[in-house]
Amino acid sequence: MAQDPMHNQLALWLQGQGASASVNETILALARSAVAIDREIRLAAIGRGQQAQTSENVQGEDQKTLDVVSNQIVMEHLAGLDHIAAMVSEEVEHPILPSAIGPQADQVVCFDPLDGSSNIASNCPIGTIFSILGVEGGDRKISEANILAASGKQLAAGYVLYGPATVLVVTTTRHVAMFALDPDGDGFMLVNDRLTIPETCSNWSINASYERYWDTAITTYVRECVAGREGPRGRDFNTRWSAAMVADIHRLFFDGGVFIYPALKKPGSETGKLRFFYEANPMALLAHRAGGRAIASGPDILDIRPTGIHQRVPVIIGSREEVDRIAALYG
Ligand code: AHG
Ligand code: MN
Ligand code: MN
Repeated sequence: MAQDPMHNQLALWLQGQGASASVNETILALARSAVAIDREIRLAAIGRGQQAQTSENVQGEDQKTLDVVSNQIVMEHLAGLDHIAAMVSEEVEHPILPSAIGPQADQVVCFDPLDGSSNIASNCPIGTIFSILGVEGGDRKISEANILAASGKQLAAGYVLYGPATVLVVTTTRHVAMFALDPDGDGFMLVNDRLTIPETCSNWSINASYERYWDTAITTYVRECVAGREGPRGRDFNTRWSAAMVADIHRLFFDGGVFIYPALKKPGSETGKLRFFYEANPMALLAHRAGGRAIASGPDILDIRPTGIHQRVPVIIGSREEVDRIAALYG
């Protein structure tokens, strides 16, 4: 039997980080699902995948065929693992529970199967985001309340960026590492075992078309950056916006910067757009581990105690100096 390529560099790195074997197993399953999603994306681009259609998901948002297919792929890859007590997916209204549960079931896996789906048609970057939460094991069905209570106990977090190269960025107990998918089929190869976010930067990412809906803190911050070297910041800044948070956040590990999806003063977006469990929380842990910071409109995202599995929160993530500055503007 051919060796499972996922048991090469990714598995070795995971073993060295000291998380439990079952957490590592979940990450390897997610990595396998990423390989399958990567293939579906490439097949769709040449018209051999599922036909591109748009429907509506549980949150009333556009749902593309690849959203549905990716969700299915992640669920199937996690389904056989008896340490998974529940899954939370952007595409599914309620927690997904296994048909049988044993005492070893002590993980909740939260995921956004396809992030940035408005980029699919134009072949721009898209991603998958995941977070593994620890819950108490036991022969009992997990409830939504158990999941909410576990939000602060992230055992691992990561994302896959299906960009010019497909990369996996992950953290378990300590560092943030980056792997790239080998096009010759040898799985995820280690590229950098300690990603960091530069402390200072000259980039920010925000969808500026919503400017009229921003609060005073964000308006002030952006205005000061736009003023460049003539303004209070004394230097010029650049804007980058990909319409996929995975791509914009990935850039932070290289160039530094701050990614902002704020609360908006418009109906339905008062707490922003991005979801806590499978977008904000995992990205916040990655940023934190890499020396950056992540806040909502005030509190650190990692300190938020959510009240719903699809709860939206404002997201401000990036280089410490910039996030500190925005936090000070919130007072
Ligand atoms: P998803 O495709 O999972 O719904 O997430 C898209 C998110 C995020 O990745 C991106 O930063 C943001 O939506 C873009 O939203 P706008 O079109 O409002 O800028
Ligand atoms: Mn998303
Ligand atoms: Mn999505």
